[in-house]
Amino acid sequence: MSVIEMRRIKREYRMESKRGKKKSNSTAIIVRALRGVDFLADEGEFVSVMGPSGSGKSTLMNILGCLDKPTSGTYTLDGIETSKSNSNTFAYIRNRKIGFVFQSFNLLARTTALENVELPLFYRQKDRSDKNKTNISRKERAITALKEVGLKERMDHFPSQLSGGQQQRVAIARAMVNDPAFILADEPTGNLDTGMTLEIMGLFQQLNDQGKTIIMVTHEPELAAYTKRIITLRDGEIVSDMPVTERCNAFDDLAKWKSDHALLSEDHS
Ligand SMILES: Nc1ncnc2c1ncn2[C@@H]1O[C@H](COP(=O)(O)OP(=O)(O)OP(=O)(O)O)[C@@H](O)[C@H]1O
Ligand SMILES: [Mg+2]
Repeated sequence: MSVIEMRRIKREYRMESKRGKKKSNSTAIIVRALRGVDFLADEGEFVSVMGPSGSGKSTLMNILGCLDKPTSGTYTLDGIETSKSNSNTFAYIRNRKIGFVFQSFNLLARTTALENVELPLFYRQKDRSDKNKTNISRKERAITALKEVGLKERMDHFPSQLSGGQQQRVAIARAMVNDPAFILADEPTGNLDTGMTLEIMGLFQQLNDQGKTIIMVTHEPELAAYTKRIITLRDGEIVSDMPVTERCNAFDDLAKWKSDHALLSEDHS
């Protein structure tokens, strides 16, 4: 079954531009940010979204992430038709079905790694359907998620006591703790150096191997090469949708990068 099913999605922004004082002089410009996008993704896919500036990537991500609704078209997420949902259901879908990972990590500064990861589970508490399903405590779930990203030993650290790569791993643990239908990552390595970028891409590949569905926006073709499929937007349309034929392995590349780096520092000594 498709986790994501978008049909004929259009998003138009109406811009009122007022020239002169007379009402009759005000004109409306319609910006067509998405012009009828069809996008389907199955469970277990790892998709990159690429395209030049202004092509509609953020607009598409906002709709995928249930932060915005399309002007027309249908978006079905994990079997739920989101376009028809009211604002409560829309927020519920966003909190429960999607794990967000942002370029800037978005962790709470005065809160430990563990508490940051626990956060999405507080919203879940109100959800009655959960009561009988599991007795696992919030804390245990958060610890498990931190273990999966290799940060159990750092769970009592505050974000300022962690490296950028570690902070992003906490954010990924937070994104996964609710077991969402998919992870939506927006330039997740934009603030990281090469080594940390490869670590994060390796973690995504590992999670994807375990069955997690991931959608990632990136400007960099080298990063898209770690995913399994690349869609490219141009002027609000998908102009290409290709499988990645020669997929790179981020942990192999990290090992190579580390050994090259070690050689380089020997040269300098
Ligand atoms: N709130 C808005 N009001 C009016 N026009 C908008 C709005 N948001 C985006 N647009 C327009 O919609 C088009 C797509 O914008 P979008 O932000 O989705 O591009 P993008 O691919 O994310 O670009 P970038 O790589 O620069 O982030 C652009 O022409 C932009 O100017
Ligand atoms: Mg953008």
